[in-house]
Amino acid sequence: MKDALRREADQAGRISDADFQTLTALILDETGIRLPESHHRSVRRFVAGRLATLGMGPDRYLERLRAHSDEYDRFVAAVTIGETYFFREEKHFAVLESHLLPALFEAGRPCLWSAACATGEEAISLAAMAMAQGRGGAPFSVMASDINAESLARFSRGRFSENAFRRDGERFRHLLGPHIRREGGEYHLSRDLLSRIDIRRINLFKDNLDALADAFDVIFLRNVMIYMPMEARRDILTRVIPALKPGGALFLGAAEVPLVANPNLKLMEHEGVYFFRRKSIAEKIRGAGFDARLLDQLQRRREVEAAVRRFMPGGRREPHPVDTRRIMSYASQKLQNPLFRVEDDIDFSVAVQFLQIVCLINADQIAEARDLLELVDSVLPENEISLFLSGYLEMAANRADRARHRYARAIHMAHDFWPARFYLAMLTQDISPRQAYQEYHRCERDIMAYIARNAYHFHFLLEGFNARYFLSMCGKWIERLDRAGEGEAGP
Ligand SMILES: C[S@@+](CC[C@H](N)C(=O)[O-])C[C@H]1O[C@@H](n2cnc3c(N)ncnc32)[C@H](O)[C@@H]1O
Repeated sequence: MKDALRREADQAGRISDADFQTLTALILDETGIRLPESHHRSVRRFVAGRLATLGMGPDRYLERLRAHSDEYDRFVAAVTIGETYFFREEKHFAVLESHLLPALFEAGRPCLWSAACATGEEAISLAAMAMAQGRGGAPFSVMASDINAESLARFSRGRFSENAFRRDGERFRHLLGPHIRREGGEYHLSRDLLSRIDIRRINLFKDNLDALADAFDVIFLRNVMIYMPMEARRDILTRVIPALKPGGALFLGAAEVPLVANPNLKLMEHEGVYFFRRKSIAEKIRGAGFDARLLDQLQRRREVEAAVRRFMPGGRREPHPVDTRRIMSYASQKLQNPLFRVEDDIDFSVAVQFLQIVCLINADQIAEARDLLELVDSVLPENEISLFLSGYLEMAANRADRARHRYARAIHMAHDFWPARFYLAMLTQDISPRQAYQEYHRCERDIMAYIARNAYHFHFLLEGFNARYFLSMCGKWIERLDRAGEGEAGP
């Protein structure tokens, strides 16, 4: 027994790579954060300190983390990054002041949420600005939340240091004047302002946010997803977006905007500041559409050349293997948010090329689209996306036979590729209505499964419409063919 305790005490203060990996996996699992390497040392130091104080080894510490909420809180406080200051990224506050808040006050009572508020400077900035706009009397609400209980406790005390004031943010500093006073080396926030903020502890990655559905006009979710992998970012957005009212505004940190693409969000730009709006139901049904101004940002030629060079380093000539599902998913995300990018991923580079081809087709630049498709095809093996686009170009050139052939091959390569099946059915109607009828039926089934899975990857191929539109078109054609006696019960 004594020996076991001594062994454990010996272990205390040391932490192996394997144990550290278990801890980083726990952080990812609990918070969505992939701990950046720059923080490994400090977290190791923190854990080593806890092991020494508690006199236990990593295994028991992990058990303790799971069983004791105070130990867990201490750990979360050590691993989260709470850097913040008043009116951070002041250009966001400029849009809020001049563009969003006046309309929100006009319409009623603005509801704002600082969704990863750390020690509260962001929420206080929001509240001070809303108070000034509402001239102290107009009602508004500000909620502030974070996963880090220690940060929230500091926030509730309403004490701030000089570090909470930076050059960025100076433009709006005067708004804090009536609410903050200096005492010694500290700044004290007025109880009046503090009491206007509803402070809560929320883990955006895990907690149920259903009660917040459609609650907010504006959400600040800034500088929290930057340390998260793509899947965690997607999970957090899926939970947070429903808390916005349709049409409500979502602000992310400037560096995070290109990391996010979501079918429920529309990227907005106001005087060089990017933010998102939650789409209304009508906008979702209309689909994304193509915005020529944003397309320019894709910098077509330069990206193509760079991508092709990367496919063939040192003159390599074999076709590059591709993951078509990933490519389509990336292209659809990029269509949604032209600033979206994934570094060092060949599938993403290919996706940009395919998206550009689609955009050229939609802008009626058929010859350019054909050139670019040829270029991309020269470095890729045969794949259903190329076949689909090539079918589309043949259709545009009135070569129905060739188009049918391309679509049929595309479906042969990917059986659930319903956009190709839809066009194949359309082109088959005249020559074989019975076959078209069957294709529409199969298409209908595949679209329903696609919608049920909340899939999104074909979006960039759908000419700005969404899957439901194609579903209703299938229904209409099936009905018509039925009436013409081409259905299964027909002659
Ligand atoms: C860098 S601060 C950002 C503060 C403020 N939004 C800003 O931009 O100045 C990031 C905050 O995100 C919080 N955070 C990290 N993961 C979270 C999660 N899963 N749920 C809620 N908050 C989280 C951290 O505790 C930290 O306070």
